[in-house]
Amino acid sequence: MIKDAQQVAVPENTAVPAPAGVGGAHIAPAPRVSVQAFCETVETAAAVQAASEDRRLGKAHVKIQMGGITAATEAYNNSPTPNVILIETDARANDILNGLDRLAEVCDAGTRVIVIGRVNDVTFYRDLTRRGVSEYLIAPIGTIDVVRAICSLFSAPDAKPVGRIVAIVGAKGGVGASTVAHNIAWAIGRDIGLDSVVADLDLPFGTAGLDYNQDPPQGIADAVFSPDRVDTAFVDRLLSKCTDHLSLLAAPATLDRVYDFGAEAFDSILDSLRGSIPCVVLDIPHQWAGWTKRLLISADEILVVAGPDLANLRNTKNLIDLLRASRPNDNHPRYCLNQVGVPKRPEITPADFAKAIEADPLCVIPFEPQLFGPAANNGQMIAEVSASHKTAEMFRQMAQTLTGRTEIKRGRSGLLSPLLSKLMKRAG
Ligand SMILES: Nc1ncnc2c1ncn2[C@@H]1O[C@H](COP(=O)(O)OP(=O)(O)OP(=O)(O)O)[C@@H](O)[C@H]1O
Ligand SMILES: [Mg+2]
Repeated sequence: MIKDAQQVAVPENTAVPAPAGVGGAHIAPAPRVSVQAFCETVETAAAVQAASEDRRLGKAHVKIQMGGITAATEAYNNSPTPNVILIETDARANDILNGLDRLAEVCDAGTRVIVIGRVNDVTFYRDLTRRGVSEYLIAPIGTIDVVRAICSLFSAPDAKPVGRIVAIVGAKGGVGASTVAHNIAWAIGRDIGLDSVVADLDLPFGTAGLDYNQDPPQGIADAVFSPDRVDTAFVDRLLSKCTDHLSLLAAPATLDRVYDFGAEAFDSILDSLRGSIPCVVLDIPHQWAGWTKRLLISADEILVVAGPDLANLRNTKNLIDLLRASRPNDNHPRYCLNQVGVPKRPEITPADFAKAIEADPLCVIPFEPQLFGPAANNGQMIAEVSASHKTAEMFRQMAQTLTGRTEIKRGRSGLLSPLLSKLMKRAG
């Protein structure tokens, strides 16, 4: 750390408080790194423990012990330092700086240091920056602060936050999940202007190629069956362009082979897409397998598409309950109702649905065969059939919510180093 004071820029978004619903600001997952925490208080140790269980630190190896800066210095006297050291201290500014100087003597150059302290003073921040400390958090800290601090060390300095993953799945087969996914992705590209990719994960039966009127020779199967070849350039070649800002990673939609995937089958494809595409929409088929569960849990946003009947209600509740519990530091999974108002069909009302799920639907999309039928058969989006239709507007709104466009606008960065300006904002 300190010896060659290599400073790590803190991405601007870390300075933005997460809006209500903890997972608001987008945090890219950390790579496979080692993290050792030396805490002073059980509260901080508990926050770090909870952070280590967060999906974004799934690949990181986190070890927690007590004893603060003294214990850290002792520990590294005779052993190599990890990628990240997290130190909690309740000492005063000078004692912290002296302690860090001693730690620097036993610390490898590549190690990043995050300090959690109670001192809130600009001169002190400057001294920390000078010593190469990557991040300073003021106690008390929450789980998401720890997740954000560690993850931000590994996203490129000044990088625009890329790689938001939006997973869309049906609560039952045939409820219109793919249609909703394709229309939302189209709106993300066209109306929000965010470069995006739709990945059709229904390999045998996927309809994204039909819906976008594309018949690419290559697609997601080429990547999933050659995991060793997967890198950004390889995946780029598999994409087919639908609009200026939207590309498709198409399903083969053929039955010449069967598709029995392991839980991690799509990991490398997603890592690659996440690194280069601002928004990836996953059209996840209605199945419960290791890989579908893993894709849902690891997504930044989840949308369950449900029809207004009892089986859909039960499945939506089960999905949302499980995903909420598995992702305690994220926005709750959302749902929308689709195909509502089929003539003569008894339906569960949106209000009753909301009561059972304990959340309102993001949207209630009416059953409109005269709109959706031609769109599906002609390979068009709803907005292409009728741009001013209120259903097209619903897709635009869902695109906005799922890409976090309702979040607080980010301020301009000043001349100060990112850590410093961030801390000054806090102090002021
Ligand atoms: N709101 C709607 N009104 C009328 N038809 C709709 C509506 N939404 C979707 N559809 C139609 O329902 C059919 C099924 O849609 P889609 O293939 O998107 O469902 P799915 O949930 O992805 O199905 P699967 O379980 O097979 O993946 C399509 O023909 C689509 O055009
Ligand atoms: Mg589908």
